[in-house]
Amino acid sequence: MKHASLKNRYALVGTGHRGTGMWGRGLLKGWSDYVDLVGICDLNTLRAERSREMMNSSAPIYADRDEMLERHRPDTVIVCTRDSDHDEVIVKALGAGANVVSEKPLTTTVDKIHRILHAEKTSGRHVDVSFNYRFAPLSAKIKELLLEQAIGKVTSVDFHWFLDTTHGAAYFRRWHAYEGSSGGLFVHKATHHFDLLNWFLDADPISVSAMSSQRKYGKAGSFRSARCKGCSHAGKCEFFFDITGNDYLSALYEDPSSIDGYVRDACVYREDIDIPDTMSALVRYSNGVQATYSLNTYMPIEGHHLAINGTHGRIEIRQFHRQPWTEPPADEILVIRNFKGVERIWIPHYSGGHFGGDDRLRDALFKPGTPDPLGQRAGSRAGAISVLCGLAAVESARRDGKAILLADLATIS
Ligand SMILES: NC(=O)c1ccc[n+]([C@@H]2O[C@H](COP(=O)([O-])OP(=O)(O)OC[C@H]3O[C@@H](n4cnc5c(N)ncnc54)[C@H](O)[C@@H]3O)[C@@H](O)[C@H]2O)c1
Repeated sequence: MKHASLKNRYALVGTGHRGTGMWGRGLLKGWSDYVDLVGICDLNTLRAERSREMMNSSAPIYADRDEMLERHRPDTVIVCTRDSDHDEVIVKALGAGANVVSEKPLTTTVDKIHRILHAEKTSGRHVDVSFNYRFAPLSAKIKELLLEQAIGKVTSVDFHWFLDTTHGAAYFRRWHAYEGSSGGLFVHKATHHFDLLNWFLDADPISVSAMSSQRKYGKAGSFRSARCKGCSHAGKCEFFFDITGNDYLSALYEDPSSIDGYVRDACVYREDIDIPDTMSALVRYSNGVQATYSLNTYMPIEGHHLAINGTHGRIEIRQFHRQPWTEPPADEILVIRNFKGVERIWIPHYSGGHFGGDDRLRDALFKPGTPDPLGQRAGSRAGAISVLCGLAAVESARRDGKAILLADLATIS
């Protein structure tokens, strides 16, 4: 075991589910030889206390981020607040001399992207973005196949992501449902998917045309209330969610909601929900690749479908995450070469969050000397480009599908 002073002294800002699980309990349990949690910050100190108990930590709690940074001078600050607040925390952390691990999406607007990139440059510190999907063994295998040109030169991609009625609805129960907080799901959720595409293709998106609509949640509902708890429509609502039956969510969210009113079970049919739930986009890349993308949030299945077409064949993946029939025991990649038949590759389902991606990401960030032959570790540039792609999609959808050039939104070197 390393002496405490040789460990990476990190501070956690934001103690919701992601902060508490991935970067609190999980990191302290599996990576305690490499990290030491020196401070916990959340505006809601009851949530921070509950989180600290769940992490089995004795680190001090702060509501004031600046006081924590000043007192502990952490090596690394992990940012797990809502998306629209990332920039504020990142800039302060860099200014206090810390490196930063930001949860995805890096941020939610062009101005905030510039702010973060400028602060990183002037501080001489480094920002990592937690693109855990890059680290899933399925994604790594696809990247390897593309690097060895298994299907020749890539020409086009079809990428379709399905969120089911549990996972998809969850985004409409909280702050994610407002563009001002999350950027909308073209930013909040698709940042993962645009980043995967950018990384797979080793190219930048140049232009985006998109369409979006609200078809299931928000105003599309025929009745509504403020939240599920105490709702008079509970008996007939297909999205009724009983938070009181979940001890973990009650402890981390419901009890602390008495402080800030932030509930985890807000009505998915709230009329002020301003983000779409049905999204499609066409993306053109700097290397000529054209990609079609879709994100649907109320499906009977969870997972994704990815097909990559090349000059010498096609790679097909249908990733089953949760579905109403028996799932295959592993993920199957079909490499179909022109005139040569098919090669089947099976990728086992690894334990740990995001199909093993979360564990591998924590290794990459905190286990010194972890090799990175595929370039899975993502910095601020990758974070910024994927957000920009989402912002271009939002803008295009607003303008009836008009193609938006990313260069017209921002120049990122
Ligand atoms: N990489 C992934 O796969 C993945 C998965 C889930 C969530 N996330 C990301 O993690 C982040 C957190 O998600 P979550 O579901 O835990 O959110 P959450 O809303 O449950 O938790 C956020 C916490 O931050 C606190 N907070 C807000 N502003 C703050 C500030 N300025 N200073 C201190 N605390 C502040 C809130 O009180 C809350 O406790 C989001 O950016 C989300 O996109 C990433």
